[in-house]
Amino acid sequence: MNGGRLTCAAFTALAMNAALAQGGPFAKPPPLPYENGEQVYRAICQGCHMPDAKGAQGAGTYPALAENARLAAAPYPALVVLNGKSGMPPFRRYLDDAQVAAVVNYVRTNFGNRYTDVLSADDVKKLR
Ligand code: HEC
Repeated sequence: MNGGRLTCAAFTALAMNAALAQGGPFAKPPPLPYENGEQVYRAICQGCHMPDAKGAQGAGTYPALAENARLAAAPYPALVVLNGKSGMPPFRRYLDDAQVAAVVNYVRTNFGNRYTDVLSADDVKKLR
């Protein structure tokens, strides 16, 4: 759990540095430099949802994404990533449409999830 909290804090610091480097919190930071869904997952999501996507309980509750029936409809995880949800921060400013689609497709086809319909960057654009 400590590892998870540290990674989250590290991410927040990174995001803030990116915002400041761009001239303040209101300037749009450049998208983070990750190309595929696995890279996005490893860099951002696993800090809270854990490397095996089974979630964690500790200072907060991080739900499992593994074998999660709520991922059946692709727009749901995409909206959670874009807009956040209670304890989860929004990532719309840090991930572009292709990166959101890639990480959603990655979690929907790994960790025991077998949802084979593919979410496109265009689909994500419409959800923004
Ligand atoms: C700072 C911690 C944190 C990070 C980073 C994070 N999440 Fe979350 N996530 C949460 C929490 C907490 C919830 C539960 C929100 C609630 O419903 O209260 C959640 C919920 C979700 C849900 C909904 C699960 C369900 O059963 O309804 C999905 C999907 C999800 N996250 C995907 C992701 C993806 C993909 C990433 C990486 C881009 C990510 N999360 C990064 C903390 C995080």
